[in-house]
Amino acid sequence: MEIRIVENISLTDIKADVLILPFTEDYKGSVYAGLDDETVALIKHVLDTREFTGKHAELTLLHTKTGRVVLVGLGKAEELTAERLRRAGGKVFISKYLKGHELTSAALSAAIFKELRILDGAQHSASFYFVEGGVLSSYEFRRYKRPENDQPQSLKTLTVLDVPVSDVSDNSADSMKWLDTVIPAVSFARDLVNTPSSDMTPTILAETAKSLSGKLVKVNILDAWDAKKEGMWSYLSVSKGSAEPPKFIVIEYYGGPVKMAPVAIIGKSITFDSGGLSLKPADGMEKMKYDMAGGAAALGIIKAVSELSLDINLVAVLPATENMPGGNATRPGDVVTSITGKTIEILNTDAEGRLVLADAIGYAIKHYKPAVVIDMATLTGACSIALGNEAIAMMGNNEALMDELKKASKETHERVWQMPLYEEYKDYLKSDIADIKNIGGRTGGLVTAAYFLSEFVTDTPWVHLDIASTAFADKDKPYIRKGATGIGVRLIMNYLLNRHD
Ligand code: BES
Ligand code: MN
Ligand code: ZN
Repeated sequence: MEIRIVENISLTDIKADVLILPFTEDYKGSVYAGLDDETVALIKHVLDTREFTGKHAELTLLHTKTGRVVLVGLGKAEELTAERLRRAGGKVFISKYLKGHELTSAALSAAIFKELRILDGAQHSASFYFVEGGVLSSYEFRRYKRPENDQPQSLKTLTVLDVPVSDVSDNSADSMKWLDTVIPAVSFARDLVNTPSSDMTPTILAETAKSLSGKLVKVNILDAWDAKKEGMWSYLSVSKGSAEPPKFIVIEYYGGPVKMAPVAIIGKSITFDSGGLSLKPADGMEKMKYDMAGGAAALGIIKAVSELSLDINLVAVLPATENMPGGNATRPGDVVTSITGKTIEILNTDAEGRLVLADAIGYAIKHYKPAVVIDMATLTGACSIALGNEAIAMMGNNEALMDELKKASKETHERVWQMPLYEEYKDYLKSDIADIKNIGGRTGGLVTAAYFLSEFVTDTPWVHLDIASTAFADKDKPYIRKGATGIGVRLIMNYLLNRHD
């Protein structure tokens, strides 16, 4: 969707198929008095009869001589938060009032936003959050639908009327940049995750990464042979049962001073996780196409960062492979050596994420000496047991770094919740014959997976984000349709944009 901002245009001069007018609950002001008399009278009527009260996410459609008008409720003015604005925006953009009937353009009046204050010290204006929710909710994955089976198209253009950021000092350029680059990067990540595994193999993921190459972006693909030379046997052990060749994807972005240590983003990129010989049950196995959501988010971040030409250095590492039970597959009980030299006893081939991440983290630290390592991974089923589908589980070795992510989480509502990394968990991972084993016991599945990773990090500031329960929605969320959520892109972009070193 193309977003345009026009200032100082009267509401009656708008050429759009539908006009969106936000209202707080029991609104008494006259901010929309500039409309034609008929429309003003209609609005007054639905407000007077309490057919529309402005309750949060309430919608009403009016047909006027000049066109369609959709009223949307923002809820109580004194309860307004960024997230409530996103949800109201999401609700209206996903609604049938903005779909079909050959609607292609909408206009949003931002006038009322000028009268409102957002709780919790938001970075952007009220209209920004409303539009962000709206655009996120408009995402559709259409690749496999023939036109005749297709749902009505989403809107092509949105015109935001008035000065949308006048309630916050001059960050309108930042707001527009976010809407123009970060939100499309979220959609990009969602497309990659929604694509079935047969069309999103390690090779295709690597080609997608290469398509991001540019002046500041260098993409290097290591094949199995290169990975052997690096001693990444832990990563390679996961790929052995698959006919698809593994691709270890390394992307460098240099926008900052040459000597500045980069931020390393590691994204779990299992393009299909069958469990390997420790095979998963059939029920729900199809969802394991989303086991590369961490990698997809990492690519989304690279895309947005390079489009914004941020003056930072970044390296993304995506250890891509399938996890399949072929004749050459790793057997439970096998022992492998990781890039760090640590030996791992593989007791369950379905705990493969940590095996590929151990080498990816080891590789990033060895070759880039990063200032910070952030890994994003659909790592454990235990993540949703602990937190449901509401938050990313966060663990790490550096409180200051985790505090920065908590801040980004608050701003983006991609929520993180910190879980512990007690040293006692080390015992859970003691192997009889190797340095470490790849599963803990029956308890603490979320934290022992993270503890396993910590054994390959040593003292680099590191944070692990388990996105297993948030990367894919089984049902519609307020402004995220069911399917891939693209989680991680907005969180990390906010972190990178606000990072000071
Ligand atoms: N990719 C899965 C984790 C997962 C499960 C993500 C469900 C999203 C939804 C991971 O590779 C896995 O299989 N983990 C195992 C670990 C266990 C064998 C120790 C799990 O969580 O069951
Ligand atoms: Mn698995
Ligand atoms: Zn997995």
